[in-house]
Amino acid sequence: MTWPYPRIVAHRGGGKLAPENTLGAIRHGASMGFEGVEFDVMLAGDATPVLIHDETVDRTTDGRGAVAQMTYAELSKFSIEKKEKIPTFESAARLCRELGVWANVEIKPALGYERRTGEAVALAARAHWRGAALLPVLSSFSTVSLAAAAAAAPELPRGLLAGRVPKHWRQLMRDFGCVALHCNHRSLTQRLAQEIHAAGYAVLCWTVNDRRAAKKLLGWGVECLVTDRLDRIGPDFR
Ligand code: G3P
Ligand code: MG
Repeated sequence: MTWPYPRIVAHRGGGKLAPENTLGAIRHGASMGFEGVEFDVMLAGDATPVLIHDETVDRTTDGRGAVAQMTYAELSKFSIEKKEKIPTFESAARLCRELGVWANVEIKPALGYERRTGEAVALAARAHWRGAALLPVLSSFSTVSLAAAAAAAPELPRGLLAGRVPKHWRQLMRDFGCVALHCNHRSLTQRLAQEIHAAGYAVLCWTVNDRRAAKKLLGWGVECLVTDRLDRIGPDFR
């Protein structure tokens, strides 16, 4: 496929240069010229989609507890590095649209919430990007979430997210109507990249923090790199 989205994308909002999965991180990436961002979306206990990576708030905030057991009102009281709050997906989407930043929305379900998270995030994404020229790409490690997203908002592009590219990737790409394969860059070979391209799909690699690796992957025709090191692999990196 042709890749209409940015080629260098900031991981979790602003990579390692700002608190992950926050509005401040998205602003930081945009201020450095990044035109694309990846972030993780999970459901709070009251089904509000929020930006967070882990199933608990323990690592990233000053609070404790499981995201799926708290309402958004409860989650929003916690502080992230004394300056940020856990944002709603809605506020992050609005900010992306204001800043003209494209989003790779990773559906990150808590265990047991795969179907409802896929469905809720896809429906929310449809509403948040209504009328947008460039739609977000929804991706997930959970094939249950991907299937739910495909059923809820089939028009939104999807990416199959995998640590290692599974042997039956062709079947999975077809099953979930994906446009791109999002893999850990360490698991990609040039031959595999060729096969994925020949099958008509794009390749997105995460998390690429080394300039040599980034050059090699772009040389293989990888369409998109997600990076934590916005300072090393800038938006114009080629
Ligand atoms: O979507 C790419 C990457 O974010 C997947 O890994 O654990 O950082 O969400 P993780
Ligand atoms: Mg992610």
